[in-house]
Amino acid sequence: MTRSFVVLGGTGDLTGRLLLPSLARLYDTGVLHGGEGLLAVAREEWDDGAYRDWARNRLAAHAGELPESTRERLVDRLAFCRGDVTDPDDLRAALTRLDGEPVVYLALPHTLFRPTLTALAEVGLPEGARVVVEKPFGTDQADARALNDLLHRLLPEEAIFRVDHFLAKQTVLNILGLRFANRVFEPVWNAAHVEQVDIVADETLGLEGRAGYYDRAGALRDMVQNHLLQLLALVAMEPPLAVDAHSLPGRKADVLRAVRPPADVRAGSVRGRYTAGTVAGRALPDYVAEDGVDPDRETETYAELTVTVDNWRWAGVPFRLRTGKALAADRQEISIRFRPVPHLPFLDAEPEPDVLRLSLSPDAIALEVNLNGARDPFDLEREVLAARMTPHELPAYGLLLRELLDGDTTLSISDVEAEESWRIVEPVLAAWAAGEVPLREYPAGSAGPAA
Ligand code: BG6
Repeated sequence: MTRSFVVLGGTGDLTGRLLLPSLARLYDTGVLHGGEGLLAVAREEWDDGAYRDWARNRLAAHAGELPESTRERLVDRLAFCRGDVTDPDDLRAALTRLDGEPVVYLALPHTLFRPTLTALAEVGLPEGARVVVEKPFGTDQADARALNDLLHRLLPEEAIFRVDHFLAKQTVLNILGLRFANRVFEPVWNAAHVEQVDIVADETLGLEGRAGYYDRAGALRDMVQNHLLQLLALVAMEPPLAVDAHSLPGRKADVLRAVRPPADVRAGSVRGRYTAGTVAGRALPDYVAEDGVDPDRETETYAELTVTVDNWRWAGVPFRLRTGKALAADRQEISIRFRPVPHLPFLDAEPEPDVLRLSLSPDAIALEVNLNGARDPFDLEREVLAARMTPHELPAYGLLLRELLDGDTTLSISDVEAEESWRIVEPVLAAWAAGEVPLREYPAGSAGPAA
């Protein structure tokens, strides 16, 4: 059966920067053979030719390393349908242009998810269709529940993909290999041996023209509610029976249910917003001076919170989640800090405990350990046992699109996970909105407000 993507919002940044380049890579690696096309639906007064010109341009900018012939094979399979994605008649007209079972991709601002799904529910989808919803999935738990209700009216859960591209990153997938294909880690993967877990996504990028979306989302909704909590779920979950759509989302949902937001939001969270500064030689203006930002929204560009996982395995271990924009350095990392040894037979030594670092970009794993030193064999020195991964052939979005076409929801967020993640961040969002936690400023290019 031929499948085609119907991309609602197909002229947006996500489509141009990630979806089209990833599809081209799937052609290039031979995963797709060229039967699969893409119909973009958007409001522009364009025809197929104008859309293809736009796409050609985006592909040159974001997949320029691929042969032009490969990019052109994709461009030839692109079509455009002018329409309002929240209008049932326009959606019906778009869907009738397709053969086969559609994969309907909501590459839209999250504020449009509800009206679009309402319109889609009115039109109905053919048997075998799939729907893909980007993040953030809703604005709070009630909104996520309403989106889930709408989706379930349209399709069964197995045909619904809630995208979180972090799940398809190499190191994130490697958490599974590391934990469950080795004998050495799992026995110490618990509160008896682990002192603290840090999950960090620091970025040097600022707003990058995304005010329309970001100023209404902020760091907590943009990164913590989805990406960072998904990383936590993979690190903290119980072993799944199999890495498949039946087991993996279930184990992640279980552990998310056990996550408790900070009891005292003031002590357990930090929110910040960047001011003008220089990041890696690039001058950034104040966040609030960026086009489209409303200073009264008090949107945070930095979010930090410490949660606990109230279950047998993790009782008492703090999980610190942190993300920020316009920071001094890019760092995406999960670090697992172990407890000190129960007895140290080296006099006067005070070594740091072991730390396991899983870095997401570049993909690498490092274990910091204490070994006997070269100068004095009875001294301890810090050594790092490190491995750098050969990059996967497909980038995260490429892998996700492949999974979508295969109909495999292993790397998708389930309905329960989406709602649980909102339950965790909601008290923090509420306390922040009520002004209980001060919005701290940090200069762009600094280490952030918590430093
Ligand atoms: C996106 C966020 O989902 O993830 C961005 O909306 C963020 O704000 C990005 O920059 C980080 O992902 P990646 O894949 O670029 O590390």
